[in-house]
Amino acid sequence: MTVLQAKIYGKNKLTASPSPQLDTEVILQHVTGLDKTRLLFERDTELSPEQEKSFLESINLRSTGLPVAYIISEKEFYGYNYYVTPDVLIPKPDTEILVEKAVEILDEKINSKLHSGILSICDMCTGSGCVGLSILKYSLEHKIIPEHNIPLLILADISSAALNIARKNAARLFTPEEAANIRFIQTNLFDSVPGNFDIIVSNPPYIPAEEVRNLLTDGRNEPVLALDGDIDLNGNPTLQNDGLGIMRNLVPQAVSRLTAGGALLCESGEYNAQETEELFRQNGLTRTKIHRDLEGQLRVTEGFKNFSESF
Ligand SMILES: C[S@@+](CC[C@H](N)C(=O)[O-])C[C@H]1O[C@@H](n2cnc3c(N)ncnc32)[C@H](O)[C@@H]1O
Repeated sequence: MTVLQAKIYGKNKLTASPSPQLDTEVILQHVTGLDKTRLLFERDTELSPEQEKSFLESINLRSTGLPVAYIISEKEFYGYNYYVTPDVLIPKPDTEILVEKAVEILDEKINSKLHSGILSICDMCTGSGCVGLSILKYSLEHKIIPEHNIPLLILADISSAALNIARKNAARLFTPEEAANIRFIQTNLFDSVPGNFDIIVSNPPYIPAEEVRNLLTDGRNEPVLALDGDIDLNGNPTLQNDGLGIMRNLVPQAVSRLTAGGALLCESGEYNAQETEELFRQNGLTRTKIHRDLEGQLRVTEGFKNFSESF
């Protein structure tokens, strides 16, 4: 099978996919090691028997609805490549605004005259680690944080399988010296997390239970644990079907763990962002606002703990 024949085969086989051509190209790049341009110019190149086998298997998997990211075990997020498996949510472009806003706040805090000592960041519900690790990676690359004063970064999740993926991603992105202040904690929200934080970021499960059931019929295979927001502190369904069961516990717990002047940033659905902002206010956070994602949807709620509250 040549590159061109493979392209035609994939496009014809993936009729149920919204992006058959792109899916085929990404899979072909992965199995051949050729980039997009070389795939164009080497259309008559024959795939080796191993490459052809791997290509056909991958197309077959994609035709079941399995996302390309799980097939090639990789997804780009905020310009960095993350290792992913069905143990973690596939990082989404919607979430990049959470990183962007956290980096802005980190920059302000580093430059603030009030700041001295090491800053602390918690990424609650970290999954692949993409949010917390991107904040740190970008801030180091752009010299927002000095190499000699790297913040403490806690990556927390209830799933030990997800934390193993986050560990692998940390090892991929950072040198051992840079990663020295990263901790991985298996926990139900803040139960097993020690200390207070200058910045808490979270992309918790926030999709209403009923919608999760519909979503999962497309074969995407993402963990229910990462999606269903209608869950109480004991892991039972709240039956409220508004996606905010986890958020209702996360927000007060996070507020109690913020330092004076500390910031909380939470992703939610465009449909429950205003309720999330209301939760922030009810729990005493000030200067609250909702940031829109790249598609213009209400996505990330931000709020700050008053300085006066800790005195
Ligand atoms: C929506 S995913 C977000 C993953 C990642 N932060 C991202 O943005 O791609 C939510 C994550 O929350 C974790 N989670 C669910 N319930 C939790 C709980 N009670 N405490 C801590 N983590 C939880 C899930 O295991 C999952 O990894």
